[in-house]
Amino acid sequence: MSEFTFLTGSEDWWRQAVVYQIYPRSFADANGDGIGDLKGIISRVPYLKALGIDAVWLSPHYPSALADGGYDVDDYRNVDPRLGTLAEFDEMIDALHAEGIRVIIDIVPNHSGSGHVWFQEALRSPKGSPARDRYIFRDGKGENGEIRPSELVSHFGPTAWTRITEPDGTPGQWYMHLFAPEQPDFNWDNPEVREDFLKTLRFWSDRGVDGYRVDVAHALVKNLANGHLPERASYDLSLVKHDGSDDLFDRDEVHDIYRSWRKVFNEYNPPRMAVAEAWVHPPVNATRYVRSDELHQVFNFDLLDAAFNAQQLYGLMSAAIDLMKSVGALPTWALSNHDSPRVASRIGEVQSRALALFVLALPGSCYVYAGQELGLPDGVIPDEARQDPIYFRTKGTQKGRDGARVPLPWSGEAAPFGFTSGSPWLPLQESWKELTVEKQDTDPKSSLNLYRSALNLRAEHLVDNGEVQWIESPEHGRKNNSLLAFKRGNVSIYMNLSDTPIEVEVSGKLLVVSAGIVDGRDGKVTIPPVSTIWLHH
Ligand code: NOJ
Ligand code: CA
Repeated sequence: MSEFTFLTGSEDWWRQAVVYQIYPRSFADANGDGIGDLKGIISRVPYLKALGIDAVWLSPHYPSALADGGYDVDDYRNVDPRLGTLAEFDEMIDALHAEGIRVIIDIVPNHSGSGHVWFQEALRSPKGSPARDRYIFRDGKGENGEIRPSELVSHFGPTAWTRITEPDGTPGQWYMHLFAPEQPDFNWDNPEVREDFLKTLRFWSDRGVDGYRVDVAHALVKNLANGHLPERASYDLSLVKHDGSDDLFDRDEVHDIYRSWRKVFNEYNPPRMAVAEAWVHPPVNATRYVRSDELHQVFNFDLLDAAFNAQQLYGLMSAAIDLMKSVGALPTWALSNHDSPRVASRIGEVQSRALALFVLALPGSCYVYAGQELGLPDGVIPDEARQDPIYFRTKGTQKGRDGARVPLPWSGEAAPFGFTSGSPWLPLQESWKELTVEKQDTDPKSSLNLYRSALNLRAEHLVDNGEVQWIESPEHGRKNNSLLAFKRGNVSIYMNLSDTPIEVEVSGKLLVVSAGIVDGRDGKVTIPPVSTIWLHH
C-alpha cells in the first residue's frame, strides 16, 4: 500500500475528526441495479474531498441477506457482491486515502447473519456440539421443549428466542437473538469466536482500514453461567444494572474483549482506532470503553433526540464535555444516523443548520450522516416499500428507520436524481428537486456550501483551539431559550434559537453564518433569527 498524506497526520487523527457516515446502499449506484455500491463511492471521492471531511465511516459492506440492512453479516472477511468485490474495496480505500480521507468500517460482533457458515453448521450439527457452542442454543421448557427458554424480548419486537428444526426434521432447540431471528447472537465465552474477530480485525487492517465502528459494543458478553438465562421485558436503560453485573449489557467482562482488540489495533502504524456504539447508563459508564487500553471513542447519542432548546442543549453538551474531560478524552457528536429520524425533519431545516454549525465548533469529533450536509429530510416511504425488520416485527405499529435511509439526490430534475440509472431500492422524493448536490453546489447559500465552509474554517480555526468557555448573556440567556454561546480560543460561536434577531455586544470578523444576514457595527453584532455565527477575534 502506498504512502499518503492525511489532512490530520497524527496518530490520534480521530480525536477531532469530522467523520462522514455512508450507508453504502444509499450513496451512489454505479451499475444501475438501484443499490449504491463501492464503485459509486469511488466515483464520488471528489465530492467527499471538496466537502472537507477527515474520514468516512462505512455502514456494513459485508455479504448479507439484508434482514437488517447489512447488520446481519454472513461473511466478515468479504464484500457483498451487490456492493462490489474485495479488489474494488481496495480501490476505494486507495482512492479515499489518496485524498487524505481515512476509512472506518462497521464491525458487527454481537451477532452474525443467519447465513453465516458457522450458523449454518450449527443448524446441521447436533445439540451440544462445538458448532452450536459458537452461538447461544438452549433447550426449550415444557414437556417437549415447546416453551421458549426465557422471557427475553428482542429489540425488534416480540421474542429473542427462535426455535429450530433439527437435522432429523423434529422441532429442536432454541437460539437467542437480541435483534431479528436472522441475527443469531454469538457466544462470546467461546474462544473460537474471540479468535475469529481478531482475525477479521487483522484482515481489514492489513487492507488499510483505519478504524472500526463497533456495533452494540456493550452487549457482547451475557450472563450465561450455570444454566442462567437473561430475562427482560423491555430495553429501557433504567432497567439495566449499572455496576457491570447486568445479565445482558455493559458487563465488566466485555472490556476484556476490547483490551484484546486494542492489542491488535496497536500492531499497526498508525494504530487502528475504534468507536463504540454503547448504550450505557449512567453516562459515566461510557468512559470505561475509552480507557487507554480499550477503544478510542464512544458515541454520544444525546443530540439525536434533543430538542432545539438552549437549556437542554447546554446541559447535554457541557455534561458530555466535562465527562470526557474527566478521562482525558474528547466527546463525539452526532445529529443524525441511519437509526434515527434525520435532524432536518426532527427539528426543522433552518434549525438543523444552526445546530450543525454550533456543534461543528465544539471540541471533539463530529459524525455527519450522508445527506445531512444537503439538509435532507426523511423520505416518505409507502408501506409496501419498507425494508426495516422493526416494521415487520412490530406488525407495522412502528414504521422503522427506512425514512432515514433513502438514497441521496445527486443531480437532475426528477427522481431518482442521478442516484441510479435504474430503480432505487427505496424511493427518492420528487420534492427533493431543489436539494440535489448539483443545485446546491453552485448556490452560495445552500446547506452543502455551509457545511463546506464550516469544515474548512473548523480545520483552520477550531481544531486544537482550546476548551469551551460558555458565554453567559444576562439579557438573552439560555433560560428564555434565545441564545447559546461559547468561545474557543479566538473564535466565538453564537446560536440564536429564537425567531427574532438578537443584538450582542461583541466585535470580530464574521467567519460564517448558518442563515440570514449578519449586521455588525460599533461593537455590536446582530444575529439573525434561528441562526449561528462564528466570529473571529
Ligand atoms: C445498531 C445498528 O446501528 C442498527 O442499525 C442495527 O439494527 C443494530 N445495531 C443491530 O445490529
Ligand atoms: Ca449498484
